[in-house]
Amino acid sequence: MKLALRWHVLLIGFVLGTSGAFAADNPKPSTQAAPLAQRPGHAGIASANALATEAGFEVLAKGGNAFDAAIAVASTLSVVEPESSGMGGGFMATMHVAASDRNVFIDAREAAPAAVNPKDYLNPDGTPNRDTALKGPLSAGIPGEPAGLVWLAKHYGKLPLTESLAPAIRTARDGFKPDSRLVGAIQEEQQNLERWPASAAVYLPNGKPPVEGEIFRNPDQAHTLEQLAQYGDSGFYSGETAQKLIEAVHAAGGNWTLKDLSSYRVKERTPITVDYHGYQIITAPPPSSGGVAIAEILNILSGFDLSQMDQVHRAHYVIEAMRRAFRDHNDYLGDPDFVKMPLDMLLSPYYADGLRQTILPDRATPSSMLAPTSGQDPGMHTTHFSIIDADGNMVSITSTVNYILGSTFVAQGTGVVLNDEMDDFALVPNKPNVYGLLGSKANAPEPGKRMLSSMSPSIVIGPDRTAVIGSPGGSTIITQVLEGILAFIDGGDAQQVVAHKRFHHQFMPDVVNVEPGAFDAATSEALTRMGYTLKNREPWGFMNVVIWDRRSNKLDAASDPRRPDGLGKVQ
Ligand code: DON
Repeated sequence: MKLALRWHVLLIGFVLGTSGAFAADNPKPSTQAAPLAQRPGHAGIASANALATEAGFEVLAKGGNAFDAAIAVASTLSVVEPESSGMGGGFMATMHVAASDRNVFIDAREAAPAAVNPKDYLNPDGTPNRDTALKGPLSAGIPGEPAGLVWLAKHYGKLPLTESLAPAIRTARDGFKPDSRLVGAIQEEQQNLERWPASAAVYLPNGKPPVEGEIFRNPDQAHTLEQLAQYGDSGFYSGETAQKLIEAVHAAGGNWTLKDLSSYRVKERTPITVDYHGYQIITAPPPSSGGVAIAEILNILSGFDLSQMDQVHRAHYVIEAMRRAFRDHNDYLGDPDFVKMPLDMLLSPYYADGLRQTILPDRATPSSMLAPTSGQDPGMHTTHFSIIDADGNMVSITSTVNYILGSTFVAQGTGVVLNDEMDDFALVPNKPNVYGLLGSKANAPEPGKRMLSSMSPSIVIGPDRTAVIGSPGGSTIITQVLEGILAFIDGGDAQQVVAHKRFHHQFMPDVVNVEPGAFDAATSEALTRMGYTLKNREPWGFMNVVIWDRRSNKLDAASDPRRPDGLGKVQ
């Protein structure tokens, strides 16, 4: 039925013609004759919290490189922004290694435990159990973040973990002033935190959420980080910390084993690379859907010259490309170690040519009439940071515990809140996850399998400027990063890229989510007349971008203006 609709739409496209599509101009050549810089000679870091950005610079000052700085930023974020990411979660990194001129992708995504049982995510009457999917230890995959940081230090960094984790350990032990987002997250999740004594002990000191501006400490987390600094992988995945994790998870009804922890492995994968109007975009491969979707959207759009379009038609073609990419996302994608995906087809320019033909020039294409899904607001409970160091090493990392404060379950004695990433699997066929995403068998839970992610850490290399870019936002990560990439290609500086107003379409529900101000009144009216349902949505962000202008050899870093606590800094 799905396939039938696809061909039906394809046919309409051919019959009605493609007057909206026209060949793109050749990439604009650099106007400056000066040679392009090979190394910036200074560094830029943009993250969601000023303490984390400063921790990165502290480690650079000790002689570290971008990869050491990434360890410092990620681990400090795990302390000061635990609602977004941490040692109980995972990350994905797209990186450029300057010395070998190599692009690499690090998959430190969580994995399902061996005892995963789909029945745990169903109520007795067969309806989805949203509580086990999102709260408590059954919602948690085996964490990848600690192993990912150890991997970065071992293979790419210059400093020992005792140096690169030092700022985070100090911050957890001595304390910090929580920002309004952390306080708000704890207030929002207070009832869930109260379900588990260890969660309440950490996040509800004296039985109440911490107060903004008052010192907040997490000494157990400092100890867990110290174990990691001292013993590497075995400081988390075996030994004392692992014992504590397993005991706590079991006591609360979870099913992890010591073997699940000790067999967790970081995977290096080949990033997805796509060329678009003279820019090369290096981005996340499966088990993220982000890179495939971004590549598919850009391949469709490469047949147009967006810069010559009015706002209505630009939005129309971008939305239609998003719609088609998300349809494939739902159907095909999963963990590449478990499922065979038609990546050659999805990434092929010829496939995009066909999809482009299905876009009606002046009308929205309705998504198929599957049961509508309703995602919760995406929240911004994931974190992205970007780094370029003096030698031109680049790190783009998106890190997550999934929904706000993850599973809200802290394993007793570790100070670590576990993720609720199991909800990123298609736990119940044809039922949406918290972001309204539908999945197929490709993303069904299986022992050891990694759940599909939308995380899209990316690097964009243009004729004379390079950007390191990414964002949180659940399923909107993909479209937010795409729009950031387009804003960069349009010539935006870091501030303009992160501030750029956004919109999102994910095939189902068949609605365009719009950030207030993204479209003026006339554009909104025109899009509505074309058949789009526009819906204002908040929040958007928290994009963090570093740009290297290789003509002037200047770095430019910016953190999303939608949130007050981030910091983009060049030094
Ligand atoms: O991996 C993913 O796609 C999600 N777990 C990301 C969650 C997220 O971005 C939540 N908040 N913004």
